[in-house]
Amino acid sequence: MAEHNPFPGENNTGHIWDDNLRELNNPAPRWWMIGFWASVLWWVGYAVLYPMWPIGQEPTPGILGWSQILEYERSLAQVTEVRAPFEERIAGMTADQILADPGLTQYTLSSAKVLFGDYCSACHGSGGAGNPGFPVLADDDWLFGGTTAKLAESIANGRKGAMTAHKGILTDAEIDTLAHWVVELSEGQPGSEQGWALYRGKGCNACHGEKANGILAQLPDGSVVTVGAANLADGIWRFEPGGFESARHTIAYGVNQPGVEQTRDAVMPGFAGRLSEQDIKKLVVYVHELGGGK
Ligand code: HEC
Ligand code: HEC
Repeated sequence: MAEHNPFPGENNTGHIWDDNLRELNNPAPRWWMIGFWASVLWWVGYAVLYPMWPIGQEPTPGILGWSQILEYERSLAQVTEVRAPFEERIAGMTADQILADPGLTQYTLSSAKVLFGDYCSACHGSGGAGNPGFPVLADDDWLFGGTTAKLAESIANGRKGAMTAHKGILTDAEIDTLAHWVVELSEGQPGSEQGWALYRGKGCNACHGEKANGILAQLPDGSVVTVGAANLADGIWRFEPGGFESARHTIAYGVNQPGVEQTRDAVMPGFAGRLSEQDIKKLVVYVHELGGGK
C-alpha cells in the first residue's frame, strides 16, 4: 500500500495496491439503495403483520392474527364441510349399496385411496399391485374370496392361511413329483397322473379343492368356500419367485407352521380395532373395485 496518495482529488479511499489499483468511495447506485430501503420497509411491515419474534413460548402474533395452524384448520374445516353429506350417506349404507351408486363409489374410492396408501400399500404395494410374499389385490384371483362380505372379513379380522409342512410326511421324491405337477398346472398343462394321485391320496385336495383351484365349493349366490389355499391351477404364484423350487419349499415347510423354521409367513393383520367401521367399509369398496369378482 502506498504511503501517500498519488491520486489526490479522485475521491479514493487512500487504499492503493500495485502502484495504481485503488478503492474509490462512490455512493451505491440509486436502484440498489431503493431496493435496500424497500426491503427494510418490507421487513418492518412483515414483523408488524405476521408472527415474527420468538419471545417466550410463542412468537409475537402479528396484528393479522395469521398462523399456519389456523390456516390449516380453516381448510380442514372446509374439506370436512364438503365431505360431510357424503360421509353421512355412506354411514347408513352397505358396501354393496355404495357400489350400486356411481357417484358415491367415486367419492369412496378417492377417500379410500389415501387410507390404502397409509395402511395397506406397505405390504400390498401401491394400488394393490402386490409385493414379494404379499398377495396382489388388483386381480380377481382371491385366496379368501372377493365378495364384499369376504373382503370385509379379511380386512377387519385379518387372515392367516395355514398349510401343513409335508417334510417327514411325504418322501423327498413325492415332494418333487408334486412340485413338478404344480409347475405343470401353472403352465396350463393337465398335470401328471402320478401328481394327481398323490394330490388326492395325501389330502392336498382337502384344502386346495378337487380341481386344485383353491375352491372347496361354489354357493348358489356365486360366492365360494375356501380356506385360503392358493389356486394351484393358474399361472399366479403366491410365493416368490414361483416355479419348482418355490413349490417344493412350500410343500416341504408349509405355511404359518409354528415351530417350522423355514415355513412361509403369511399373516394379514386385522384392522377392526385400528380403523373405524366407516374406513373399513371404504376399503372394502376400494379393494372390490381393484379386483372385483367373487
Ligand atoms: C403386514 C402386512 C400387511 C398389511 C399391512 C396388510 N395386509 Fe392384507 N394381507 C397380508 C397377507 C400376508 C395376506 C395373505 C394372508 C394369507 O395368505 O393367509 C393378506 C391378505 C389380504 C386380503 C385377502 C386377499 C385374498 O386373496 O383373499 C385382503 C382383501 C387384504 N389383505 C386387504 C388388505 C387391506 C385393505 C389392508 C389395509 C387396511 C391390508 N390388507 C394390510 C399382509 C398385509
Ligand atoms: C391345511 C390346508 C392345506 C393343505 C392340506 C395343503 N395346502 Fe397347500 N396351501 C394352503 C394354503 C392356505 C396356501 C396359501 C397360503 C397363503 O397364501 O396364505 C397353500 C399354498 C400352497 C402352495 C403355494 C402356491 C403358490 O402359488 O406359491 C403350494 C405349491 C401348495 N400349497 C401345494 C400343496 C400340496 C402339493 C399339498 C399336498 C401335499 C398341499 N398344498 C396341502 C393350504 C393347504
